[in-house]
Amino acid sequence: MQIFRTQTAIKEYLRPLLSTQKIGFVPTMGALHEGHLALVSEAKRHNDLVVASIFVNPTQFNNANDLAKYPRTEDADVAMLESVGCDILFTPYPEDMYPQPVRTALNFGEVETVMEGAFRQGHFNGVGMVVAKLFHIVKPNKAYFGQKDLQQCLVIKQLIQDYSFDIKLVIMPTIREADGLAMSSRNRRLSATQRQTAPKIYAALQQTAQLLQSGASLQTAQDFYTQQILAEPTFRFEYFEIANLDTLATVTDLAQHQQVALCTAVFMDEVRLIDNLIVDLRK
Ligand code: PAF
Repeated sequence: MQIFRTQTAIKEYLRPLLSTQKIGFVPTMGALHEGHLALVSEAKRHNDLVVASIFVNPTQFNNANDLAKYPRTEDADVAMLESVGCDILFTPYPEDMYPQPVRTALNFGEVETVMEGAFRQGHFNGVGMVVAKLFHIVKPNKAYFGQKDLQQCLVIKQLIQDYSFDIKLVIMPTIREADGLAMSSRNRRLSATQRQTAPKIYAALQQTAQLLQSGASLQTAQDFYTQQILAEPTFRFEYFEIANLDTLATVTDLAQHQQVALCTAVFMDEVRLIDNLIVDLRK
């Protein structure tokens, strides 16, 4: 695997290849897990070259402590990427990505006003900006993202449309541990006891989905999920939304929807876990 640490170096390397090679791109912040590797493997199947990036992007963190504690595991990440045949890794220095502070701002409109957008001020501006920069640097044909960050997927879809990037967005299902916990780089910050409790989030989402499928009202489902989380003293509830799958706006009338997304964020001490589940109401 070729490793590049500056925009200039990777651009020079890729430039002669762009006309003949289809490039699949997997942007990450490192601390890789099976979920990331599934994205790389899928990219490998459908492209000539796979580029992954590892960059812990400071501008998308609204909490300095979260940024400082974000796991950094470069050697293990390189080995994992090599194990699934990743061709190129771009892992830039912060001063190479941001030689000067970014002065333009992105506004994703409605999708930014709920859930992650509402609770993490400026988060999607930071995500959108770094992904746009990475798209310009790598010039991929396809870009791969995980459904675990459902709202991020919508933001990237909007970025691609609004800024006419010639890139196909591929969204892959969430990869879970055997006990249901959604794989996340943040899971490694959980203590052993927290790790045992964390799967209760997905269990509560599944039970809430079943309730909705058996005809429960929005309020019943909302109350049920909230109670499940509040019943566990080591959880700190942040949000739960029953959301429109296309816009992530709060659903107000279930009869208008064939599918909805259940989306949640829960803290365990200072570790923030998010998860979601798409529910088919026709079942
Ligand atoms: O999902 C992530 O890891 C990050 O938000 C991304 C897309 C790599 C942008 O920094």
